[in-house]
Amino acid sequence: MLLSTQNFQQDSQLKTAVLQLPGEEIKLPIVSGTEGEQAIDITSLRDETGYITLDPGYSNTGACESKITFIDGKNGVLRYRGYPIEELAEHSTFVETAWLLIYGELPTEAQRARFRELLTEQELLHEGMRHHFEGFPPHGHPMAMLSAMINACACYHPELLDTDLDPDRFLTAVAILMSKVRTIAAFSYKMSLGHRVEYPDPALSYCRNFLHMMFSKPHSRYEPTLQVVKALSRFLILHADHEQNCSTSTVRMVGSSGANVFASVASGVCALWGPSHGGANMAVIEMLEKIHKGGENPKSIVEKVKAKKFRLMGFGHRVYKNFDPRAKILEKTAAGLLSTLGVADPLLDIAAELASIALTDEYFLERKLYPNVDFYSGIILRAIGIPVNMFTVMFSIGRIPGWIAHWYELYHDPDRRISRPRQVYTGPTRRKYVPVENRS
Ligand code: ACO
Repeated sequence: MLLSTQNFQQDSQLKTAVLQLPGEEIKLPIVSGTEGEQAIDITSLRDETGYITLDPGYSNTGACESKITFIDGKNGVLRYRGYPIEELAEHSTFVETAWLLIYGELPTEAQRARFRELLTEQELLHEGMRHHFEGFPPHGHPMAMLSAMINACACYHPELLDTDLDPDRFLTAVAILMSKVRTIAAFSYKMSLGHRVEYPDPALSYCRNFLHMMFSKPHSRYEPTLQVVKALSRFLILHADHEQNCSTSTVRMVGSSGANVFASVASGVCALWGPSHGGANMAVIEMLEKIHKGGENPKSIVEKVKAKKFRLMGFGHRVYKNFDPRAKILEKTAAGLLSTLGVADPLLDIAAELASIALTDEYFLERKLYPNVDFYSGIILRAIGIPVNMFTVMFSIGRIPGWIAHWYELYHDPDRRISRPRQVYTGPTRRKYVPVENRS
C-alpha cells in the first residue's frame, strides 16, 4: 500500500504529524526551516513500522537540511545565503559569489584578494593534463572531456583527496576546480577547431581570461566589451546554485560515500549533461534553428503549441510558477547585449517574437508559461559566440561553486550518512532455476 498524504494529520501545536497505517498509528516530528518551510521527519518510519515512502523523482522529499540557497517558486524568490539573486547579479562578481556560496559570507577584501591570487595560481594545466586532450577525438563532446578532466585533476593532487581536508587544502581544491574548469573548457573548444590552445593570462579577471582563452588567436587578441564580460559574469552568477536539483543531489549522493570533491563534482557534470537539466539552453537554440530552417513563423508555432503539437523549449518551469527571477535578470541583460553588439541574427528575431507572444497570449498566461532562464541564457551565449555544444559546459562552469558548497556542507555534517534510498520491488517473486535444455 502507498502512503497517502491524506493520512497525515498535522497538529501544529505539538509540531508532529500523525500517520495512520492499517492497524497502527505513528507520530512523526515536523521540522521547520528558517523561511517557514515545513517537513515531516520520517527518519524513524521504517524502523518503527516497516513502511517506506514512495516518491519517484523525489519532488516531495527533502534529502537534507541546507543553509546555502533558498527558493520560493510561487513568489519567484531566489537567495544565496540570504542575499537576493537580483542584488548579487547587479553588484557582485562570480568569484565573490562563489566565495559566498562556499563559505556562507561575502569575502573581506583580504579574502577576495587571496582567492583571486589562488585562482590565478591554478589557471594553468599540468602539461601531462594538457596531453590528455590529444587522446580525445577532436569532435568529442566537451561535457565528456570536462568530467573526465575534472577526475584527472584528482590524479595530479593526491594530497587533496584525504578524508580530513584542512581549510587551506580545501581552499586549494576550490581554486583548482574553479580555475581549471575554465581552462579545460576553453582548451576543449580550441582542440575541436584544430587550433593551438591559448594559455591563460594572469593579468585578466576570471571572465575576461576565459573569453581570452576561447576567442584569442595567435595573431589577434580578443578584447571583449564590458557588456560581454558583464553578461558572462551574470550568466555564471545566476547559474551558481539552485539547491537540490538533479546534479547537486548527485554531487551530494556521491560525496555521501566519502568520495573526494573532484570525483563528486565530476559526477555533477555528468548529471547536468542531460537535456532535462543543463541541456535545455542548447535545446532552445536547436529549436529556434529548426523553426528557422522549416521556414515557420512564431505565430504558426504558437498555434501548434496550443494544439499540443509542439513543446517550446525554454518555456515553463517546474518550481517557478509565476516567474523565474533569473529569467527576468537575463532578459534585460540579453536585450542590452544584443543592442550594443548590434547582432543581426534571424534566430534571435524568432526568439524575441516568441517571447513577446508568450507574455501577452491568454493560453500562455493561463498556464503561467513564460520564457525561463534557459531561454535567455541560450540567446546570450549565442550572442557572445559560444558554440551550442558548449552551452552545458558554460552552465557547469557556473555551477561549480554550488556543487562545491554542497559537498562542503555535507562534509561538515556530523549526521552525514551514506545515501541509500529504498525501493518497492515489483519484479517476479521466487522462481526455480531451469537448466538451459529445459527452457522453451
Ligand atoms: N511548451 C508548451 N506547453 C507547455 C510547456 C512548454 N515548454 N511547458 C508546459 N506546457 C503546458 C503543458 O502542455 C500543460 O498544458 P495543459 O494544462 O493544457 O495540459 C501546462 O503547460 C502545464 O504543463 P506541465 O507539463 O504540467 O508543467 P511542468 O511543471 O510539469 O513542466 C517543464 C515544467 C518540464 C520545465 C516544462 O515546462 C518543459 O518541458 N519546458 C521545456 C523544457 C525547458 O525549458 N526546460 C528547462 C527548465 S528550466 C531549468 O531546468 C534550469
